[in-house]
Amino acid sequence: MKKTKNTKQDILKLLKENKIISGEKIAKILSISRTAVWKHIKDLKRKGYLIKATPKGYSLIDNGDLLNEEELAYLPYKVYYYKEVTSTMDIAKEIAEKGEEALIIAETQTKGKGRMGRFWYSPKGGIWMSLVIKPSFSLKEAYLLTYIASLATALAIEKIAGIKVFLKWPNDIIYKENDKEKKLAGILLEVKAEIDKIDYAIIGIGINVNNEISSLVPEAISLKEILKKELKRKDIIKELIKEFKDLLKVESIKILNLWKDKSLTLGRKVKIIHPEGEKMGLALDISDDGALLLKTEDTKILKIYSGDCIHLRNFL
Ligand code: BTN
Repeated sequence: MKKTKNTKQDILKLLKENKIISGEKIAKILSISRTAVWKHIKDLKRKGYLIKATPKGYSLIDNGDLLNEEELAYLPYKVYYYKEVTSTMDIAKEIAEKGEEALIIAETQTKGKGRMGRFWYSPKGGIWMSLVIKPSFSLKEAYLLTYIASLATALAIEKIAGIKVFLKWPNDIIYKENDKEKKLAGILLEVKAEIDKIDYAIIGIGINVNNEISSLVPEAISLKEILKKELKRKDIIKELIKEFKDLLKVESIKILNLWKDKSLTLGRKVKIIHPEGEKMGLALDISDDGALLLKTEDTKILKIYSGDCIHLRNFL
């Protein structure tokens, strides 16, 4: 077996590869003492792994939907995993200020943040994570990150859950159930920049996977409700990060075209709500600099860079 620098990781690999394996054999393969093996096994159990000790050796019981640094060790970002946080955005900010790139994941958030200062309900079973990156983008191109993140999230959900999803401007991932549009996931972007250079970007991603949906958010839905079964969250995370990294290399015009192909907003009559007020009109297109082009009733074409979008039933 090819050893890594992380003994716990190696033990986990051996446990996954063998139905049953003795402490003696693990110790021999990894050239460590049996006491060291025992200590690592104890630690793995503490992290949530169900490991049965039998007279013939250790046996790992399938842990289903476990998320932790070990399970996500193969991601291209350093992973920080927490059982509970206020918001992964808060931890991400501390890490970003130290100049690191990383992925912060939590089982639950007590003060989950949604867009426009809303509360984001984050119970057990969902994917609540923030990705800290230092992109080589100019500030003008920062808008691309939400398009990239929502596309990557949609593509990962489609691949792992096997369902079709759509995008609502600016960055909601939507499932269409009969005629109703239900929100599966949302993206929150925070950027720190100087003049024209991005210092770091924090991309918050919330996906309703195996979690219950609060009755306070009737417009939301989880993958478990759609599929009537639970999914392994790590499969979605791995796919999402892969798509995200790939899309980071794609030209901006192509990103916008991919986004438009999955959009539910374009061609619709919409209401845009933002701090300065509300605007109604036809969502025409996305401009090259990432704005929503809105044709209002007095036939002006407005460029909208931020706000909340409500899809209205009737076309203009
Ligand atoms: C939205 O309003 O649609 C954006 C929701 C973003 C939620 C995610 S969950 C992980 C990260 N931490 C937070 O507090 N918010 C984002």
